[in-house]
Amino acid sequence: MSRVVVCGSLNMDIVVQSERRPSSGETLLGAEVTFLPGGKGLNQAVAAARLGVPTAMIGAVGNDAFGNRLRGFLADNDVDSSGVREVEGPATGVAVIQVAEGDNAITVASGANMHFTRDMVRHAPRPDEVWVAQFEVPIPESEAILEQARAAGARTVLNLAPYATHSDSLLQQVDVAVLNEVELSQASGMKIRSRSSQRTIAAACETLRARGARAVVATLGARGAVVVTSNGTTAIPAAPAQVIDTTGAGDCFVGALAARMAKGATPLEAARYAVVAATCSVERLGASPAMPTAEDVAGRLPKA
Ligand code: ATP
Ligand code: RIB
Repeated sequence: MSRVVVCGSLNMDIVVQSERRPSSGETLLGAEVTFLPGGKGLNQAVAAARLGVPTAMIGAVGNDAFGNRLRGFLADNDVDSSGVREVEGPATGVAVIQVAEGDNAITVASGANMHFTRDMVRHAPRPDEVWVAQFEVPIPESEAILEQARAAGARTVLNLAPYATHSDSLLQQVDVAVLNEVELSQASGMKIRSRSSQRTIAAACETLRARGARAVVATLGARGAVVVTSNGTTAIPAAPAQVIDTTGAGDCFVGALAARMAKGATPLEAARYAVVAATCSVERLGASPAMPTAEDVAGRLPKA
């Protein structure tokens, strides 16, 4: 069976829940803290694996307790973590996530993630694989890996999050680019909001296609997603959700998209499934622990 290979970040998420976020200089008491496995790479790998698709992760952790716990979590979720290397010196990545009023603010201390290199890939990509990358590890390393994957005939998915400047040569290695409205604004130089017209969103996506990405998906929170391919533009609405925590919704989308592509779906078909999966994920606390199973998603798919 085809599989998903995720190259990217692993963080320990320190999730602090409070009624509201403190203002600058203010101290708020009464919050709750939870330590949850995270990092965009780990979240996307767990999302794909929970949907029943063989998944491997390649990344870097420090020689510390958080690194051990993250690798254990991947194993518990049936992700092949043999490609997660321990680097000497820097600590495992940490993200401090403040959750209040259904929204979040995140600060990441990247640590070992910035020591990720292309040499950490120890197997040659296969044509039946889907390779996934994001922007929480050094971008030139991800570009080299995606180039190798495409050259081998694998398909590639790039999540341009968190946004960073990047070359056209990177986008030329990408079958499907995924980004939210903030990242789409930054990438296109256009002012994009989740309520922007479909025509405006499509025009912004086209700027990425013009630079080399074959298909572009804009995720738009409660509105769902817009998919732009060479066949045109399609809006995919999200069903209403009882939002607990949206952290990792974008990662769930990317992992589910890659999982469906590994099963042979087109980017548009895969995005329809990913919208439903990501909507399930916002109804639970945390990023990776909130990833749905295939059964969870099946129960929410629109009737044909
Ligand atoms: P995050 O950074 O919080 O992980 P994101 O900004 O990258 O998320 P979004 O565009 O907010 O990603 O959400 C990704 C997908 O999650 C959406 O396309 C949609 O399917 C689902 N989703 C997010 N928020 C909601 C919501 N309030 N109601 C229903 N579905 C949602
Ligand atoms: O996308 C959510 C993720 O972003 C969190 O798990 C956090 O680790 C940051 O990388």
